Amino acid sequence: MSFYPTRLDAAADRAVAPGYSRIGFRVRSRAWPPLPPHALAGRSAVVTGANSGVGKAIAIGLARLGASVTLAVRSTSRGDAAAAEIAAAVPGAVLGVERCDVADLADVRRFATEFLGKTDRVDVLVHNAGVMPTARAESAQGHELCLSTHVLGPLLLTELLAPAMARTSAARVILMSSGGMYTQGLHPDDLEYRTAGYRGATAYARSKRMQVVLTPVMAEHLAGAGVSVHSMHPGWVDTPGVATSLPRFRALTGPLLRSPAEGADTAIWLAAANDLPSGRFWHDRKLRPEHYLRRTRESPTDRDRLWQYCTTAIADY
Ligand SMILES: NC(=O)c1ccc[n+]([C@@H]2O[C@H](COP(=O)([O-])OP(=O)(O)OC[C@H]3O[C@@H](n4cnc5c(N)ncnc54)[C@H](OP(=O)(O)O)[C@@H]3O)[C@@H](O)[C@H]2O)c1
Repeated sequence: MSFYPTRLDAAADRAVAPGYSRIGFRVRSRAWPPLPPHALAGRSAVVTGANSGVGKAIAIGLARLGASVTLAVRSTSRGDAAAAEIAAAVPGAVLGVERCDVADLADVRRFATEFLGKTDRVDVLVHNAGVMPTARAESAQGHELCLSTHVLGPLLLTELLAPAMARTSAARVILMSSGGMYTQGLHPDDLEYRTAGYRGATAYARSKRMQVVLTPVMAEHLAGAGVSVHSMHPGWVDTPGVATSLPRFRALTGPLLRSPAEGADTAIWLAAANDLPSGRFWHDRKLRPEHYLRRTRESPTDRDRLWQYCTTAIADY
């Protein structure tokens, strides 16, 4: 099976709506063989932001394949409610709910320490938690909120759980990025988006670009531990997050939006499939370009500066 899309499939993404809406999913998924029912039996997965939207659907999909799933959430009451729904959908599912505010580096450290006291293996780590702030906000450590939620928290959590991932065979890290990253390049002089004219949607897209830029760097960093790293776009998905942050987009695209289960599909597939190339960007079970526009391309120096900034920011935690 080729990991590359056909020309028609690639053209659907270039045209945006045909590739990212439910139309793309429905056409493409006709060719996908079902995942083996027990593909993740005996495996342990952690999904951040798993109480809602795409994250909850990923947790359901992983549990259905036999994984024990930890819902890492910032509200345990919302996490418990989601776990009850997942248990009803997947009888016998082995689920845990743990508090973890991924934007707060100290809380990420606390969660990882407590979690590693209870388990010694992590096979799948899905960095799904996401935000689109209405105004510039900072994390407990003073980092811009999209940067801390989508980049710094996930990097630290990956680093802290890496020993438990190295203990398993073929562990994988999945970063839930977004097609919005195609509109933005790196801004290595202003990673914290301190310049005037802050826009939440731009901050979101910049941080989703950072995830994609860091994916091959993390992959290289973790290759020795046998851990692969993947970033992905779920398509346009009808979730509480979209309803709250992008009401006009939702009103315009309404019937074209994917269901959360459709948006979760590629993450579940990345968790279960074998022999995938590490360090790449995926959508609908195929490798996709990291850039469509020349202006968004970063230099190796810019990539190094991002990595240095992030590793320095998390170093004390
Ligand atoms: N929906 C789309 O069309 C789409 C498209 C591209 C990419 N994505 C990505 O998909 C992911 C899921 O988005 P969604 O659409 O499913 O949105 P959603 O329904 O708003 O879900 C986001 C989840 O992230 C959690 N979260 C936010 N900040 C957190 C933090 N600091 N610590 C822990 N959890 C946190 C939220 O928890 P609370 O319930 O506590 O707020 C919620 O569970 C995001 O990364 C998003 O960028 C979505």
